[in-house]
Amino acid sequence: MRLNKYLAHCGVDSRRNCDDMIFAGRVQVDGEVFTNPGAQIDETASEVRVDGDVIRLKSEFTYIKMNKPQGHVTTLRDPHNDKTVMDLLPRVLNVVPVGRLDKDTTGVLLFTDDGDLHYRLTHPKHEVEKEYEVLLRRTPEGFPENDLPGGIMLEDNGDLVKGTAEPLNRKRTHYFVTLKEGKKREVKRIFRHYNTLVYRLHRNSFAGISANELAPGKWKKLTPQEIAQIQRVSRET
Ligand code: URA
Repeated sequence: MRLNKYLAHCGVDSRRNCDDMIFAGRVQVDGEVFTNPGAQIDETASEVRVDGDVIRLKSEFTYIKMNKPQGHVTTLRDPHNDKTVMDLLPRVLNVVPVGRLDKDTTGVLLFTDDGDLHYRLTHPKHEVEKEYEVLLRRTPEGFPENDLPGGIMLEDNGDLVKGTAEPLNRKRTHYFVTLKEGKKREVKRIFRHYNTLVYRLHRNSFAGISANELAPGKWKKLTPQEIAQIQRVSRET
């Protein structure tokens, strides 16, 4: 198995972050530093270490969903000592957030220690669907009608984001937005391009999983059906 895949499979981190660890010389195989993420290893016989700690294959992974509340940063540790989403979970779970939501965004956020699935859920090629409810300060200027086959324009560089946006009120200050990419602050950037600001952003679903039944800040483990759902969605390209 490829070294980066093995590390992700063991739940060390997402495959991309495992690549960085390997490039940084933090990974040893049978006592030797490996700096090539694609190096083939014999996972049944080799001893793999990250920062000196032996890595073992996990037979069971943990999958969690949270209804993220406002005021929590999506990061493992915040340098400014802000509250983080990790403060809402028991440390023993040892999971990491899948993607991120802004500090003021609410709604479903997944966590796992399954690095392989994490990689697939966040990689743009899998086009995992995210649904948002958006409240705007005022009506966007020149915003395209409902269906947007060509995509929605992002504010700065002329990038097109794949998705749709359906107005939910006459004034067009309340939208239901479906996106398939996962660019940083994409919903806010879309509407800024049309001269308005988002003042409330809630993610209704990620890869078909919703956390709307949970009170803000609450979490629970995914059901076997929900796990099967995210595995299926993340395999589709
Ligand atoms: N888009 C944003 O602008 N913010 C989020 O938190 C998620 C998507």
